[in-house]
Amino acid sequence: MGQGMANISRVPSGVERLDEIIGGGFPRGSLIVLAGNPGTGKTIFSAFFLYNGIVNCGERGIYVSFAESRETFLGNMLSLGLDFEKLEEGGMFSFLDMVTAREEAMPTVMETILNEVSRIGARRLVIDSFSAMAQAFKDPQDARIILHTVLSRITRLMGCTTILIVEAPYGENRMGLGIEEFVADGIILLRRTRLDGRLLRDLEILKMRGTPTPETQAVFTLKDGFKVFPPFKPKPIEKPRRFEPQPDTEKYFSTGSPSLDEMLGGGYPRGSAVLIEIGEQISTLQYHLIAAITACNFAAQGRGVIIVPSRGVDASLILKRVEEYGLTIDEVNRLLRICVKEYPGFKPKPYLIAFRGKSVDEDYAKYMKGELELIESTGQPILHVIGVDTLIDNYGVGETISAIRTYATRVRETSGLGIVLLKPGYPRLAKILSAIADIHLRITREHGAVLVYGVKPRTNLHVLEMDASKGYPMPKLTPII
Ligand SMILES: Nc1ncnc2c1ncn2[C@@H]1O[C@H](COP(=O)(O)OP(=O)(O)OP(=O)(O)O)[C@@H](O)[C@H]1O
Ligand SMILES: [Mg+2]
Repeated sequence: MGQGMANISRVPSGVERLDEIIGGGFPRGSLIVLAGNPGTGKTIFSAFFLYNGIVNCGERGIYVSFAESRETFLGNMLSLGLDFEKLEEGGMFSFLDMVTAREEAMPTVMETILNEVSRIGARRLVIDSFSAMAQAFKDPQDARIILHTVLSRITRLMGCTTILIVEAPYGENRMGLGIEEFVADGIILLRRTRLDGRLLRDLEILKMRGTPTPETQAVFTLKDGFKVFPPFKPKPIEKPRRFEPQPDTEKYFSTGSPSLDEMLGGGYPRGSAVLIEIGEQISTLQYHLIAAITACNFAAQGRGVIIVPSRGVDASLILKRVEEYGLTIDEVNRLLRICVKEYPGFKPKPYLIAFRGKSVDEDYAKYMKGELELIESTGQPILHVIGVDTLIDNYGVGETISAIRTYATRVRETSGLGIVLLKPGYPRLAKILSAIADIHLRITREHGAVLVYGVKPRTNLHVLEMDASKGYPMPKLTPII
């Protein structure tokens, strides 16, 4: 009570990136209630708390299980790369199997836990679960009282940070408001929901002592463990390097990103039209992360790229992006064509195609000329990137649809690749363009994380992050499973 934030000592939670949203870690010696429906990841979360506590902080840990046997736990966690048996042999970990404990044995159970905590000098404890334990009592109130007394001693007096798992019944997002919630220093709720029919996992911090904004929500995945995704953050490029192209295959153009290729089952099929539907609140930087990488993968292999920029994106922004990937001005002049509207004082450049925006036929003829020149000079298929909103602004919806239909056919005939970028606010057009496109991706946002998924082909939700480790911006996509 009354403790200032600054002097709360924290322990790393051991759960990847969770500490960023809970003020640096769990308060040392705190009681954290971890609640969720069956299968939401409570055991996996707790296992990482213990495992990383031991491996990274040298804090011994105990898992008390009223739910699953030692063999099941050890086996499941080993499949996630957590070798608890080895830690057990080293005296750092202990598993207490209480699956068959009965009511009359409860005082002994509590004593066993207390003794084990002092015997191995545990600094971390998990009880899985309060709900299973309470079932052993005729009067659940007894379970609460015993637990409360024992846990206060373990956490407050012995300084052992404790996770108390609480099972929320199916279909209920709230817990049963028991004493466990009032004595808790922190409450984390794990959820399993749907977004556009696809699995979405998210968590909510309902309470965290000493953390200013406790009502935080975040997306997470159980892919290779338990990973939390705090809001999307652009990363600074420390040591800029030139983009390294990703090889294509017989059937597919690589998108330029191994994780996007994997999500699509190989890449963008040769000769295909790709619709990227951009959701509300998605920034230019975020969707460029997906679109620019494919453009670079073409240009870095000496192939042409022709672009009709979306509203709000001009040639200078595109040149800045290209520069981030280490492409030279000579490559820009040879391989890049950016279609811009003529304006008073317009200066021609080798990489610019000037549209007058008066007639679709006139501009399309210029576009075709630019395209043919690129195909001829490179002897290779080219990439088209079209911002649909620009076409609509200039020629109206009807002309835009027929232009894109024609263009999808051209891309197929020339075995090139077309990427159509659609900004929010055109729901009917999205349906029409989806029917024309061979690939349809959506980019959207949830709790600040950027999500990408395939409508065609249908994929899981993937979280988009920026990876700067190669010396240029790369999209990194992680599936939510
Ligand atoms: N090795 C693994 N790799 C990826 N996902 C896994 C792995 N093992 C289990 N899962 C997924 O994790 C989920 C279960 O996680 P976990 O056992 O932590 O949930 P829980 O909340 O403890 O469930 P319960 O209430 O049944 O104990 C399952 O939905 C399963 O699909
Ligand atoms: Mg479990």
